[in-house]
Amino acid sequence: MRKKIVAGNWKMNLTPMQSLELVKRIKNAINTSNSEVVICPPFTSLQIIHDEIKDSNIHLGAQNFYFEDKGAFTGEVSLEMLNELGVKYVIIGHSERRQIFREDDSLVNKKLLKALSNGFTPILCCGETLEQRENNETLDHIKSQMQRDFKDVDMSLAKNVVIAYEPIWAIGTGKTATSEQAEEVCAYIRNVIRSIFNKETADAIRILYGGSVKSTNASEIFAKENIDGGLIGGASIKEEFIDIVNA
Ligand code: PGA
Repeated sequence: MRKKIVAGNWKMNLTPMQSLELVKRIKNAINTSNSEVVICPPFTSLQIIHDEIKDSNIHLGAQNFYFEDKGAFTGEVSLEMLNELGVKYVIIGHSERRQIFREDDSLVNKKLLKALSNGFTPILCCGETLEQRENNETLDHIKSQMQRDFKDVDMSLAKNVVIAYEPIWAIGTGKTATSEQAEEVCAYIRNVIRSIFNKETADAIRILYGGSVKSTNASEIFAKENIDGGLIGGASIKEEFIDIVNA
């Protein structure tokens, strides 16, 4: 049985004080959830949230990091720095990083290898553009992302990755993929993982859906056989996140 995950990607929202207020409300409301709940706030809120969630069942994730240990990389943050703040999960290859900050599969692959070898749980994002979907290129695109991003990943570590399928046309647009569309791609991703690694890895790896998940559509999406939870953007910085966890 794969344990469900609900991860909130707060993106560039909320100051440390606003973050504290929200996390207190979430913590009190979900303390009986048997899903894995992860919150990925901005770097500046990690410390204050870390202190607040110590004895709760909320885990802490970072939205980004750099794969080098230290040095002259202005503006970047290392895994060692995140580790000291209690961060256990790292989002890698989010489409906003790929599109706005020009991160390519080669960089995503370096980050994935680094996170795995340092014992973090990567949340690896993939997904197609609207144009790719309309041209029937979705599955080929996803397969090529997976093959490049998982290059040189050790078979024994691969199942520790959490994959998030996020169609780019559904992110922040209010246009959710139907549960059938999401299931089709997530099932396909599981097959690709089987072909890269083996059946055991494919059965164990967790695949999330992300893209305009709301309290009204979460339970239908999460009920699908190959969908093990969600990566939530907009709705994760509201009380609605609690309803999504409960779904
Ligand atoms: P959204 O974002 O839920 O606001 O669509 C999802 C994401 O970018 O992870």
